Amino acid sequence: MTTKEIVKKHGNKRENLLQILHDIQNQNPANYICKEDIYELSKEMKIPVSEIKGTASFYTMFSFTPRGKYVIRVCESPPCHILGAQTIFEAIESELSVKAGETTDDGLFTLEGTSCLGVCGVAPAMMINDEVYGNLNEEKIYKILGQIQEKERK
Ligand code: FES
Repeated sequence: MTTKEIVKKHGNKRENLLQILHDIQNQNPANYICKEDIYELSKEMKIPVSEIKGTASFYTMFSFTPRGKYVIRVCESPPCHILGAQTIFEAIESELSVKAGETTDDGLFTLEGTSCLGVCGVAPAMMINDEVYGNLNEEKIYKILGQIQEKERK
């Protein structure tokens, strides 16, 4: 779907901007909002480029640089931190050989930290793209990552 079509689908009202940005990012195979899309969006919605960038930069879920097919976002807010978010981070880093902010060499995973995902009751938690995972431990991490790698090998 083109940016123009996405805007048409939601309607070019300002209150739809976040959903539109979300869809634009999701349909990009490298999971980010590229410069061309921002300019196109600005034209379609009659919102200045600087305002679109400012809005998108406010949210950690949006990126202006290419990322992996699967974006892993580990919650770093206090409830998750207390219950072992650091261990989760380290397990992912060692399993995928990446540090926070990096993408694996095969372009499959990007690892990021994020603030509260709104599921503190199942801390420590993370999201992989749109899916939430809670009550994490190292064993669960290996299993989840293994399942995705397995799926991608097929
Ligand atoms: S603090 Fe981690 S989900 Fe809320």
